[in-house]
Amino acid sequence: MELSCGQDKVAVIGLGYVGLPVALALSKHYPNTIGFDINPHRIDELNRGYDRTQEIDSQALADTSLHFTAEITHLVDTSFFIVAVPTPIDKNRRPDLSPLIKASELIGSILQPGSIVVYESTVYPGVTDDICSNTLSRISGLKRGIDFKLGYSPERISTGD
Ligand SMILES: NC(=O)c1ccc[n+]([C@@H]2O[C@H](COP(=O)([O-])OP(=O)(O)OC[C@H]3O[C@@H](n4cnc5c(N)ncnc54)[C@H](O)[C@@H]3O)[C@@H](O)[C@H]2O)c1
Repeated sequence: MELSCGQDKVAVIGLGYVGLPVALALSKHYPNTIGFDINPHRIDELNRGYDRTQEIDSQALADTSLHFTAEITHLVDTSFFIVAVPTPIDKNRRPDLSPLIKASELIGSILQPGSIVVYESTVYPGVTDDICSNTLSRISGLKRGIDFKLGYSPERISTGD
């Protein structure tokens, strides 16, 4: 599948240090870009031009065409997803994959044939391939590699890099 600027709907799931700059950069090429976060307080702040991570200034937030939302219905018809939710460790220093699984369930519930899902969250080898992929397939009923494509991109945007 190829994305065409101006037509395809693109969504970034999780608008923290990593997700917000990615969403802003994408919105410059894909006007139909959605920035989704489960935290409505974060969405409210971004809509008011305040980024608590201090990655993006208020003028850039005022100027962007990016649509900030916590509403899953606004993600319907998205064909390209980037997932940048946190992957904290628990008290036993084991990775807590629940945000990643919840985000995958959410995407799976609206995933359409021909879509691409790229994970940007930091995970140990096999998580994208097994846990994320299986969750997307289980919820959507779609087959990876046939109905949708899966990617992994473990780098954040680094200014000047
Ligand atoms: N910070 C970095 O420099 C960096 C660099 C490379 C990779 N990473 C990885 O990227 C991932 C995100 O890191 P971050 O620093 O942006 O985290 P963050 O805590 O700054 O932001 C994560 C955002 O995701 C939201 N979120 C949580 N669960 C969600 C869900 N189910 N659906 C939608 N939104 C959800 C949170 O509300 C929050 O706004 C982590 O796995 C991290 O390890 C971080």
